[in-house]
Order: sequence, then C-alpha cells, then structure tokens
Amino acid sequence: MIVGVPKEIAPEEKRVAMVPEFVSKLKGVQVAVQMGAGEAAGISDSEYEAKGATLARDAAALYGQADLVVKVQPPTPAEAALLKKGAASLSFLVPSACEDSLKALAQRQASVLSMTLMPRISRAQFMDALSSQATVAGYRSVMIAAESLPKFFPMMITAAGTVSPAKVFVVGAGVAGLQAIAVAHRMGAIVEAYDLRPAVKEQIESLGGKFVVLPLDAADSQTAGGYAKAQSEDFYRRQRELLAKAMQGSDVVITTALVPGKPAPKLVTEEAVRGLRAGSVVVDLAAEQGGNCALTEPGKTVVKHGVAIHGPLNPASALPAQASHLYARNIASFLDILIKDGKLELDEKDELVRGTLVLRGGLAAEPAAAQGANK
Ligand code: NAI
Repeated sequence: MIVGVPKEIAPEEKRVAMVPEFVSKLKGVQVAVQMGAGEAAGISDSEYEAKGATLARDAAALYGQADLVVKVQPPTPAEAALLKKGAASLSFLVPSACEDSLKALAQRQASVLSMTLMPRISRAQFMDALSSQATVAGYRSVMIAAESLPKFFPMMITAAGTVSPAKVFVVGAGVAGLQAIAVAHRMGAIVEAYDLRPAVKEQIESLGGKFVVLPLDAADSQTAGGYAKAQSEDFYRRQRELLAKAMQGSDVVITTALVPGKPAPKLVTEEAVRGLRAGSVVVDLAAEQGGNCALTEPGKTVVKHGVAIHGPLNPASALPAQASHLYARNIASFLDILIKDGKLELDEKDELVRGTLVLRGGLAAEPAAAQGANK
C-alpha cells in the first residue's frame, strides 16, 4: 500500500501532512512524497528519502500511485480528479464547505476521511488535529499581538525607569485561548480571560490568568462534549456590553470564541474597540468563521479608532515546521488504526472511523457526511 504526500497547493499553506520522523514509523506501507512537498516547512526531499520515502516528480505522478493521499487542506476538485479510482483521501476537510470536492471525490469512488470530524474523546487525543493546530494558532496570536503592540509585554526595571507590563484580555478559553493565556503570561503580560463556560476557571488560573466573571446567567453554557452552547440574542447583547467594560484598559484583546456549527458570535463591538486606548491591538482568531469583533476583516489587518485589528486566516500555517510535525503525528496515529497488515481497513465499528468517514467508495457514509463538521 502506498501513502502519498502531495505538495499543498492552497495559497499561503506552508504545512505538509507528513514529516520524515513518522515516515519510518508507519507500519506496512510505502510512503511517496511529491518533490518539494516539505519545502515551505523547512523539510528537504532528501530528509524524506533518508527515512525510506520515495519521491514523485509531480502531483500527477504522486496521485497516480497513491492508495491513500494524506493532506492538510481538503483536496480541490482538480486534485480529486487526479486520485486513483477507489483510493482514499485523509485531510482537514469540512464536508459542508467542500461540496464540489466531495462530488469529484465521489466520481473517483474515493473513500474520504476528515480530521475535523475526529471525536474528541480520550482515546483520540493523539489524533486530535483540531487541538494541535489550535495550539499553534493560540501561540501565533500572541506573537502577532506582541509584534503589533507598540509596547513591551513584560514589566522592566531599568535605569531609565520602570516599564509596566502589558495587559492582555483573552475571550474564549478553549484550546487556542488557553495556549494564548499561557504564552502571554510567560512573556510577562498581565492576563485576564473570560469564557462562557465557567468550567474553564481553574484551567485559566493554572496558566497564570485571572478568570473574569461577568454578571450573566449562562447556566446552560456547555454541551456534553465540552463545547459552548449558542445563547439567545438578548444574552449576547448583554454580554457585549459587559465585555466592552471588562476589556477597557487592556492593551491586547485576543478573541477565540466559537460555537460548533454556527458563525462566530460577535462579542466585541465597535463601541468596545473605541473604548480601547489608541495603539491597542485586537487579534481575532475567529476570523475564519466571520470573526468575534464587529470590525474584523478576515485575512487583513485594519486600524480603526487607533486600534490595530488583525483577522488572521490559517494562523497555524505561519509556523509550518511545528504545525506540520504535530499534524503529521495526528495523521500517523490515525493511520496506525486505519492500516492493518498493509491494507486500509475502514472498520465502522470503530467510533473513530465511523466519526471521520465522509465517503466510502464514493458513497455517503452516515452520519459524518450528514452532520457537516463537529466544529
Ligand atoms: P471552540 O474552538 O469551539 O471554542 C473556543 C472557546 O470559545 C470555547 O472555550 C468556548 O466555550 C468559547 N466560547 C464560545 N462562545 C463564547 C461566548 N459567547 N463568550 C465567551 N466564550 C465563548 O472550542 P475548542 O477550543 O475546540 O474546545 C473546547 C472544549 O472542547 C475544550 O475546552 C474541552 O472541554 C473540549 N475538548 C476536548 C478534547 C478531548 O477530550 N480530547 C480535546 C479538545 C477539546
């Protein structure tokens, strides 16, 4: 069986789905890598070869031989058309956003699995690519803020005077938000954080942040799976008002709030931005889902009322070496389950397979295809 690793073709995508370290650890398979696939992540072709991979000259040569193609971004319809008939595809595919690709994959009678649908249970921790990439994004958000802020993060006592530390306010303390809290705290900032789910209070505090309590009644804030529940418009309106007050005086606001299956809740109003000092920075990690800040322009940095508002798309790709390494580890762990005696076995009795399978041999596999993404 041949596992193919193509070069990503999406603009600004620097990650690669497999790194040399895991090539030699995959049991019973030959790995073929498209020449230059790891280049943007700082990995040379010879490093893959040294671990036993073969090199394919171009995408056509790669797809022509692969029984399973592993990718970061979902295959485009053109990539899907290159797939061998009956081969399989594993990527970060959100079914509801990839209808054209899924049609093209179905025409190739492909089996399609998505890392975005991985159940978030203990057994799947090593395969949780949503978490691994959110960790990178959380770190990156603090780097963007630190670079943009015209101030130091830490307190400094110098002969020329004492510099007070920056104040960072994090909205949403899921995987990305918690990482942002930890990094900003380690850089010496004073960190406050708020989340709809009171359950995260201890996690925030253990990372050096202060949990901000807003006088809001969100008793029913969390799903059984640990995600936030959508709230009423009245609740959000009150939340926006209280948040605007709570974040006043912050130098940096990092927003990460998401509700699975919904556009990102708008939590930071223009009024709240106006309440920040000129020179402050907002980093909106929810930009891909529309943004938590009313002034965010996804993919851009804009300055409004003297405040720089960053809406980074695909922030994990800005740190491609480690993001690829973590993702490749997620993929390799899943392949250990999917490949038995050198053959791909899509055993739907296994909840990890059942949860992530979108197409089997070109036909919709329920329930994953129907549910869209578990995000
Ligand atoms: P996410 O990306 O869906 O959301 C990010 C954060 O935004 C969440 O903490 C959510 O509570 C918060 N949020 C949503 N609406 C908000 C609002 N109106 N105001 C303030 N905050 C709001 O979540 P993520 O980071 O993917 O994971 C969330 C939770 O999922 C984790 O804390 C954990 O409980 C669970 N999880 C479980 C895993 C496992 O068991 N393997 C792995 C990863 C996460």
